[in-house]
Order: sequence, then C-alpha cells, then structure tokens
Amino acid sequence: MHRFAIMSAVLLRRFTRTAVVSLALVVGACGLVFPDNMQRFTPAKAGVASADPRATQAGLDVLAAGGNAFDAAVAVAATLGVVEPSSSGFGGGGFFLLYEADSDRYRFIDARETAPAAATHDMYLDADGNPVKGLTVSGPLAAGIPGEPAGMVYLAENFGTKPLAELLAPAIYHAENGFPMSRRALLGLRFRKNSVKQSPAMADVFLPGGELPAEGDVIRQPDLAATLRRLAAQGADGYYKGETARLLVDGVRAAGGIWTLDDLANYTVVERDPLVTSYRGMKVVTAPLPSSGGIVLAQVFNFLDGYSDEQLAGVQGQHLLIEAMRRAYRDRALYLGDTDFVDVPVQRLISRDYMDAQRADVSLTRATPSSALEGIPDDGSSGDQTTHFSIIDTDGNRVAATITVNTWYGAAFVPPGTGVILNNEMDDFSIKPGVPNEFELVGAEANSVAPGKRPLSSMSPTFLESDRGVAIVGTPGGSRIITMVLRSALAWLNGATAEDMVSMKRFHHQYLPDRVSYEAGAFTAADIAALQAMGHNLKEEPRPFGNMNVVTWDTSANRVTSASDPRGEGEGRVY
Ligand code: GLY
Repeated sequence: MHRFAIMSAVLLRRFTRTAVVSLALVVGACGLVFPDNMQRFTPAKAGVASADPRATQAGLDVLAAGGNAFDAAVAVAATLGVVEPSSSGFGGGGFFLLYEADSDRYRFIDARETAPAAATHDMYLDADGNPVKGLTVSGPLAAGIPGEPAGMVYLAENFGTKPLAELLAPAIYHAENGFPMSRRALLGLRFRKNSVKQSPAMADVFLPGGELPAEGDVIRQPDLAATLRRLAAQGADGYYKGETARLLVDGVRAAGGIWTLDDLANYTVVERDPLVTSYRGMKVVTAPLPSSGGIVLAQVFNFLDGYSDEQLAGVQGQHLLIEAMRRAYRDRALYLGDTDFVDVPVQRLISRDYMDAQRADVSLTRATPSSALEGIPDDGSSGDQTTHFSIIDTDGNRVAATITVNTWYGAAFVPPGTGVILNNEMDDFSIKPGVPNEFELVGAEANSVAPGKRPLSSMSPTFLESDRGVAIVGTPGGSRIITMVLRSALAWLNGATAEDMVSMKRFHHQYLPDRVSYEAGAFTAADIAALQAMGHNLKEEPRPFGNMNVVTWDTSANRVTSASDPRGEGEGRVY
C-alpha cells in the first residue's frame, strides 16, 4: 500500500478544491504522476526536533537502528524525562498525536494525568471557601496520577517495532551516568529551590549539599534508573504495580497525599479522535479535549475566515486576531473540561455559525473589553515548562508529542526511592470558578476537580497539511501554547519555514486577564500605538515565550527540515 498520505486519494477527499488544484501543480512540478498512477512517495530523510540534543540523538539512534517514528518517540520522551526534568518525565503526562502512514490514520493518545479517587471538588479550599495558597503547586496533593509511563508503553506496544527496554536504554544511561545541568533546567531549579528543599529525596539529587548546582554540574539519578529498569523489564506493571507503585504511594501518603495503589493500577491511557479543522486550504489535525487546544484553534480559524485578506492585513489583522483569541479563551473558561465527566457542546463551539455570531459584535477599530463579554468574573506566572518534540520517519510516519509535569519541576516532590518528580497538574483544574491558576487561566464547573477526571490542558501537538506539504508543530508555554501554535500555523500558511516558525516573536491574549502579552519585537512601535489607540491593554513580558520544535516536509522538493526554538537549548536534525 502506498504510504504517502498527501499524495493519496484519501487526501483528495480531505482537501478543499483550491488545495487539490495547487497540489496537482506541485506534483506536476516534481514530476510525480498523480493521482491515476500513484507512486509510493515518502520523505527523503527523517527528522527529529526536541528540546534537548541528547533526546534528539536518542531518537535519531533509534531510527538509525531501524526503528520507526513511534519507537523514536518513546526514546525521545524517556530521555527528555531524565535530562530535562524541569519540564516532563515519568511523574507527568502528555499527549501523543500520531500519523500512521501504513494505514493513513491519525491517532491521538491521551496520557494525561487523572485526579486520584480520593480527590474532592473543594479539596483546595479552606473552611471559608478560599483557595489554600500553594496546595495545587507544591507537594503531593498537587499531583495527579501520572500518565506518561503508560503512554510510552502504549506507544511502544501498539505502534513501535522495538522492545521497550531498547527504547528506554538511553534514558537509563543518562539517569545512571548523569547529565550536565543545563541553563534552562537550572533556571527552573532556582525558581523552585524552596519547594525542592521540602522534599529530601529530590533535594538529595538536585540540591547537592543543600545548594543549587552550577551549570554543567553532573546530576545522577540512580533511583530513577532503577525505576526505569523495572518499567523496561515489566512494561506498565513495572510502574503502576509492584515495587514502584508501592514506593510512589508510600512516599505520597507519608507526605500528606491521597494516592492509593488502586489509583495507579487503574490508570489507563485513552485513544481519542484528533480534532480536525481547516483554514484557507490548510488542514489542521490537533488535540481534542481534555486539551482545549483544538477547540480554541478551530474557533479562531472560523472567526478569521469571516474576514477578507485585506481586513486581516497589518495592525487591523493583529487586532482581529486578538479579538478571536479573547472570544475563544472565554469559551475555554466557560465550557471546556473532561468530556468523560461533563457535557461540552463541542460541535456547536467549533461550528462556523457559532463564530459568525461571535463576529457580529466585533469592531474593526475598537477592542472589546473582556468584561463586556458574558463570562467569568476576573478575580485576579506563566511558563515555558512542559516540552514538545516532533518526528517524521522515512516511511512518512509522524509524531507530535507535548508532555509535561506542568510548572517547573512539577510539584517539586519525589517519593523516596523512586527518583520520580511528580507533576502538579491538579493546578490545571479550576479549583473555584473565576480563581486564576498558575497560568492566570480561569475556569468554571466543567473543569472542576472530580475523582478520576483529567484536568483541562492547553497542550496542542499539531499536524498542518497543505499544498506545501506537512508541518509537525508544538511547544510548551502553559496557556500560551495554543496561540503560539496558532500563529505558527498562520505563518506556515503564508510561506514560513520551520526556522521562521520557531523563531517568530509571539503575542497572546487569553480573555482574562484582559491584556495582550507580547515578547519584545512582536510589534513595532507604530503597531503598539495603534493597538493602544483601539483600546488594547499591552504588556511586554520580561521572559521569552515557549520552546517550539518543528519538523516540516516540503513535498515539492521532498525536503525535510527540523528546527528547534532559539529561545531554548534544543536541537533539530535530519537523518
Ligand atoms: N500543564 C499545562 C497544560 O496542560 O496546559
């Protein structure tokens, strides 16, 4: 069977008439016969882009040894969990978006953390109904039941070709032999030092002698290596049952947490249908709930589709994009949550009619104050924690994976004997309507805490497809993830390269707080003056946004390009 979806008849059905016409031109230009005498057409090279060169190398090594993109994804994710412990790992969770070239199918693996069975609706509120500061941020009560180890095993068992032990070997090597502390990992550690001190098992590794290591100091994680060996030998049972599970639960409960052995034994990944939308000939395959990413992206595209290219040009285009973000994030706050627990009107929210109606009260020259939209009252640090990697192999299989422990070093808590840094994903729930979380996001009942529920996420691993070919996109960045992916998608539609996409300056609006956050250089001085005159409240942020990793496949030249964000320390390579 042919493996190249872009050239397949299936995609002929998927693309708009315009896209098909231009696709035919591209195919003609590179001499392929299409579609009557379809040829097998696959990428000339494989590409891997991740936030750390050691993780990228682990992925390339697996590909060089004959593994596929899914094998490589396990090796990359596992290695990131060891050498980029600030951002993701074996105590966290994430989403893996896959494209299987053989079956021409998209898959979405939801390895998001779940609330433990003993979690309650008001568990983070005091007797007066006020949030208890820090409870969702540091220590074991902040941690959901991890999903990433189960996600890796699921990926290896169902999509990979190589034994799990082989795929985990690079991670075990780096845990055992140590890794030099990177600038970013140290930045996060400095930020979380006081919390880390409360967890002796974590401080032993990351605060040698009670102090911060220096950049380049070697950090060894022998307990984590032992945990990974059990995972490698026994699969999911090596983590969710037996010795690792016992150590995790004992450590959590001894420190005041509520996990049980059943919570771990009952954890399952969920395969969901990816959310598929389109915008002006570009197909967008992205994350469904419990990520808010896909719905927000679809809403913004539908909103923009009501305007002409002229209306979307220049500072007016920036204004309209901000208005689209404002409305989509308002809906995120009001309606979105885990669909296994709450009814979310997804089809209505992503319908064209719905956004047509939203557009009705938008001025081309004036900002709409968020307070003028029906919604949640404003009661009120954003981060680039989390990590994303992108992979394509020479069969055309693809992976976009965004994985996380939430904020820097998650809950900054390690159950003794495990080496596992637990997430603080419980902070992604709305602990009280209207109360902002660590990313200043507000939410409502749809995203309230309940046993077994998955907290709403912004992680948005995404495939873009058009007559240009394919782009595999994603980034960390908390609530800003979606707008970073959005603006990269719009840039790619307009001809941006992988390098352009990871480098471009970023801006963001999330309904509340009612402000446009931006990186220096995202707007010209004239843009700023014009947007302010329209009534927008702008704030230049002191820290950069995101750490994007992109792989593109230009199908007309059959060229694969990998790029890693210059803000980070990652690496994109082709093989
Ligand atoms: N923990 C960040 C997110 O899932 O959006």
